[in-house]
Amino acid sequence: MSNLRVRSAVSPLRRRVLDAEGAFVPAVLPTVDGLVAEMRPEEPVHCIRPAVLAATAAEFVAAFPGDTLYAVKCNPDPAVLRALWEGGVRHFDCASPAEIGLVRQMFPAAEIHFMHPVKARGAIREAWARHGVRDFVLDSAAELAKILAEVAATGVAGSLGLVVRLALPKGAAVLDLSGKFGAEAEEAIALLRAARPHVARLGVAFHVGSQCLEPLAWRAALGIAGSVIAAAGVAIDVVDVGGGFPVAYPDVKVPALGAFMAEIEAGSEALGLPGARLWADPGRALVAGGGSVVVQVQARRGDALYINDGVYGSLADAGGLGFRFPVRCLRADAAANARAFRLFGPTCDSADVMQGPFWLPEDIGEGDWIEIGQLGAYGACLRTGFNGFDRARIVEVSA
Ligand SMILES: Cc1ncc(COP(=O)(O)O)c(C=O)c1O
Repeated sequence: MSNLRVRSAVSPLRRRVLDAEGAFVPAVLPTVDGLVAEMRPEEPVHCIRPAVLAATAAEFVAAFPGDTLYAVKCNPDPAVLRALWEGGVRHFDCASPAEIGLVRQMFPAAEIHFMHPVKARGAIREAWARHGVRDFVLDSAAELAKILAEVAATGVAGSLGLVVRLALPKGAAVLDLSGKFGAEAEEAIALLRAARPHVARLGVAFHVGSQCLEPLAWRAALGIAGSVIAAAGVAIDVVDVGGGFPVAYPDVKVPALGAFMAEIEAGSEALGLPGARLWADPGRALVAGGGSVVVQVQARRGDALYINDGVYGSLADAGGLGFRFPVRCLRADAAANARAFRLFGPTCDSADVMQGPFWLPEDIGEGDWIEIGQLGAYGACLRTGFNGFDRARIVEVSA
């Protein structure tokens, strides 16, 4: 007998939406309150606001002094990708063949960049030969050899772009990304020198960590990139300042986007690379605000609300990371006074808890719906089928 535990597959988010009587609800609804009145949903409903996504993307694209690459992992939903394209995003940071295939299928003219530093050989071949991807990230000599071998095998290596991901010291970001990827300075210098003769474009990249509230982090990282570039002594065509741009959660004050751009401009000017192109690959900052999830309270016990979504669904970051997402009770006559609640998810695992505190009306109870905001990023894409709670719907709302 095998001891393997089998997890159920995650059901795709269901787009066919029916009302309580089983009749079709239009795919785009005017408001979330209207959606609840019409559907009275007992499963989590992901709400996408295409207008908000397009406007947020347009703001970032206009503010960033280079190319904006959307980090697809953050939310690969086609409605989200369409809205970002609408907002002017033409470059995509992809990490897997599935992401690359999706973007290429939706936008034949998109510029796709393969930004995962460790790739399967077949994934490199598929990206290069089938989807026309030309830019690849690496952080080791082994990965450099792998990319060069796979690309050379196709016989059209002339347009290759390689970007060396630098390691950064642990910073102040809420989600530290310094431990897993990135070449230390000495190795990065060797990689840049080794890669230069093989490429049409050579770059350096870094990621300061996700939800980084400190604009100076980009200035400091650009300083590290500058030392590596100077020591390598090779021409550099691209400097990728990564993602990590923050969004507002309750009680979190976020500097204006302009403050981040000012540090990036100052830091990149100090590099003295007038011909180099800047890239950024934001995820959270582009899509968090354009998505929410509507959940229903199934039971109340004191200050604990048992809801139909949790850390194995779209609320992973509210669990271990303790993110406090904005919440809104969707009952018009709910009490005006709020009190602090913690939330329990639907699975039987006692780790399925979100401590918050989440401030909700003091009379909230079973059957009430709550809209949880800022969940366009790292929400729906993290769902699992654990414990069979794999069902959720998705709708677009106009306001
Ligand atoms: C290489 C890379 N770029 C961009 C992102 C997106 O980061 P964020 O959502 O913090 O902007 C990530 C996230 O893991 C990443 O690994």
